[in-house]
Amino acid sequence: MTVILEVQNVSKTYRNGAEVKALENVSFIVNYDEFLCIIGPSGCGKSTLLRIIAGLDRPDSGKVIFKGKEITSPTPKITMVFQSFALLPWKTALENVELPLVVNGYTKDEARERAMKYLKMVHLDGFENVYPHDLSGGMKQRVGLARALALHPEILLLDEPFSSLDELTAKDLRILLLKIWSDPTLPTNNFIMITHNVEEAVMMADRIIVMSPRPGRIVGELKVNVPRPRFEHLRDKEFFEAVDKLLEMLSISEYK
Ligand SMILES: Nc1ncnc2c1ncn2[C@@H]1O[C@H](COP(=O)(O)OP(=O)(O)OP(=O)(O)O)[C@@H](O)[C@H]1O
Ligand SMILES: [Mg+2]
Repeated sequence: MTVILEVQNVSKTYRNGAEVKALENVSFIVNYDEFLCIIGPSGCGKSTLLRIIAGLDRPDSGKVIFKGKEITSPTPKITMVFQSFALLPWKTALENVELPLVVNGYTKDEARERAMKYLKMVHLDGFENVYPHDLSGGMKQRVGLARALALHPEILLLDEPFSSLDELTAKDLRILLLKIWSDPTLPTNNFIMITHNVEEAVMMADRIIVMSPRPGRIVGELKVNVPRPRFEHLRDKEFFEAVDKLLEMLSISEYK
């Protein structure tokens, strides 16, 4: 089996107040072990799509199939890193990572051990007892990453995880994320990341899916063949070619 996730003809219209058609007939597949990026202009329905994949929201029509079964509610097998971090301000870094583990049936001791391991992995050892208020943006997102990974999901969803961080912090976190994705000892091998940063998509993804302006539709797909580690190939012709192709697809999509 090569396909882990299948998005089939997903459409979604918000009807609270003005009618907003967010997604129209979106279909794509995700292969095992793939780093997939989804790119599209602001407001095109990217977060909506990710929430539907996570089971946090339901499509009006169409479905999401994960390993042969339809997703209808949240599952610890698919977890999410949010753009706004979404940490509980009254809980420490450690407690923020522990909470979903306890909710999912781990004992307090197991949750603590797992949370400590993942905080260390994101280089936050020593900050376990600090509250979100006293952490920098980059550190908050490291907590978000540890929290999502600690559940040992099979698919990690990332909704513009670096867009509110400064470029140097974002660069550090991109390197960390790629290290985690390619670590064979970790159980999470599938990443789906939303971005509207073209270079970031080319730096990270095996394959990039391009969305149109709202209502979001798939208007193109690009397989990235730049060798990894890509940080050593940022000035390569192949890198620029991939960026150009993506820009072309995005600007074409604006006028469709
Ligand atoms: N809960 C909601 N109720 C009503 N409309 C919504 C809701 N959530 C999103 N929308 C609308 O649906 C459209 C798609 O929103 P969504 O957040 O999925 O887009 P996005 O591509 O993630 O945007 P951004 O790049 O700004 O994060 C937008 O026009 C938004 O205003
Ligand atoms: Mg969004």
